[in-house]
Amino acid sequence: MNTIKLPIDFENRMKAILQDDYEAYIASFNDPASKAVHLNTNICSVDRLLKDFGDDFELLPYSDNGFISHMEKIGSHPLHHAGVLYSQDPGALMPVCSIPYEFTDKDIVLDMCAAPGGKSSQLAIILEKAGAHLVSNEINKSRNTILRSNMERMGYHNQLITNMDSEEIAASFPGVFSFILVDAPCSGEGMFRKYPESIDEWSVSNVEMCSQRQKEILDNVLKALRPGGYLLYSTCTYSREENEDIIHYLLDNYDLELVPLRDRIMNYSTALGNEPGAHFFPHLAYGEGQYMCLLHSTNARSEDVSNYSYREYTPSLPKAGKNIVKIIKEAINQDFIDTLNLYIDKDNIYSIDPYPYMLPRKSISRLGVYMGTIVKNRFEPSHMFFKIYGSKLSNVIDLSSNTDMAIKYLKGEELYFENAPKGYGAFSYYGGILGGFKSAGGRLKNHYPKGLRNNN
Ligand SMILES: C[S@@+](CC[C@H](N)C(=O)[O-])C[C@H]1O[C@@H](n2cnc3c(N)ncnc32)[C@H](O)[C@@H]1O
Repeated sequence: MNTIKLPIDFENRMKAILQDDYEAYIASFNDPASKAVHLNTNICSVDRLLKDFGDDFELLPYSDNGFISHMEKIGSHPLHHAGVLYSQDPGALMPVCSIPYEFTDKDIVLDMCAAPGGKSSQLAIILEKAGAHLVSNEINKSRNTILRSNMERMGYHNQLITNMDSEEIAASFPGVFSFILVDAPCSGEGMFRKYPESIDEWSVSNVEMCSQRQKEILDNVLKALRPGGYLLYSTCTYSREENEDIIHYLLDNYDLELVPLRDRIMNYSTALGNEPGAHFFPHLAYGEGQYMCLLHSTNARSEDVSNYSYREYTPSLPKAGKNIVKIIKEAINQDFIDTLNLYIDKDNIYSIDPYPYMLPRKSISRLGVYMGTIVKNRFEPSHMFFKIYGSKLSNVIDLSSNTDMAIKYLKGEELYFENAPKGYGAFSYYGGILGGFKSAGGRLKNHYPKGLRNNN
C-alpha cells in the first residue's frame, strides 16, 4: 500500500507529464528500488564474473557491463574493494550506456559534475580501453574527496581530477574536450523512491533555481568543447524546466544538433511527444528516474574531433633525481620504475605521464599517480601505488579462489604465506588489486589503509 506523500504541485506536474501512466508511476513507489553494479571489463570479463557469481548478478539488457545486483553488503565484498565492481543505480548507468560514439586515443573527455564517480567510472573503463584521457571534475570539496577515493579504489590511471566551478573549467580548458558529460545538479525528482527525505526539499522555486544553474554550467562548459565535439546532458529529474527546456535553450543559442541514442536504450526510454531527449521512468525502466540527451557541435564536421592536434604538457614539479629513483628501485625491485616519469614534491613522489593539454595551475586534486614518500632515505609506497602498479610487482598473490583470506586482508589482518619472497607485493582478486603488503619470513605485513578496512 502506497504511503508516499508527494507535494500537490509535484503531483500535478507529473500528471501533466505522464497522463494515463501517472497511476503506474505512483504504484512504482511500492516496488523496492533495485540495485546495480558495473564491472571493470578491462580487468575481469563478464563471463568470469557470471561463472563464479551468477546467482548474484544479472546482466542489464542495455549494457555491456552493467548488472542488477542481488549481493548483500556489496560494499564490504572483495570485488568492491578490488575495484572490479562499482555500485550504481540501474537508471544512473543508462546515460553512458547510451553513447553511440566510439572513443579513440585522440579523445579528451570531461565529466563536469563527477562525484561520487559512477559515470566517471563507466567512462574510465571505456576510455582506458581506447587510450583516451578523462578529466573528472567535482565542485564540492568533500564530494571531491569521495570521488578521488572511488577512482583510486577502481585503479584508473589515465585521469586528472579537478575541483573547479564551470567558469574555471572554461578558463582552464578552452576548446580542449571532444566529449563533455554534464550530469547536472538537479531537483532530484527521480530519486524520491530511493531517498524519500529529498521530497521535503522539492519546490517549484527550487526547480527554477536548478534550471538557472544548469544553464550557467552549460554556458561555461561549452567554451571547453572542441568544434565537432559531443555534449551528453543528464539529470535525475523529470521537470521540463531542467530537461527539455534546457535542450531547447542549447539548440536555440549554440551550434548544436541532436544525436539519436543507441537503439538498445530506446526500449526503456520515453520521449515526451516530439520533445528532445529520453526519460527513464521507474514504472517503465530499471532503477530510478533519469533524463538524458546527446548533442553534437556543428561548428565543424564530426571527423574534426579526431583531427585535433595537441601538444603534451608536463607538470612544473622538479623531476625525481637519480638518487631518488635508485631508492625507489631498491624498495620495489622492479625495472618498470625506469619507464615512469617521476616527479618530486617535498618528499612525495608522483608518476605523471604527459598530459594532452595545458595543466591548470590550481584546483587540481589528483595529478598522475601518487607513488609514496621518501622517509629517511627509504621509499614508503602509497596505497595508490599498489592500486595502479601492484600488478607489475613480481610478488602478486591472487586470492580469487580464497575469498576468506581476502576478507581477512580487508579487515587488516596479517596473513602468512610460507614461500612469499621478501619485500613488497600485492593481493589481487578477480583481476583487480586489493592492496599491498610487505613480506618477511612468510609474514605479510598488511598495508591496507586503516580507513578503508572492513570493521565487522
Ligand atoms: C547528479 S550529481 C553527479 C553524480 C555523478 N555524475 C555520478 O554519476 O556519480 C551532481 C553533482 O554536481 C555538483 N554540483 C553542484 N553544484 C554545481 C555547480 N554549480 N557546478 C558544477 N557542479 C555542481 C554536485 O556537488 C554533485 O556532485
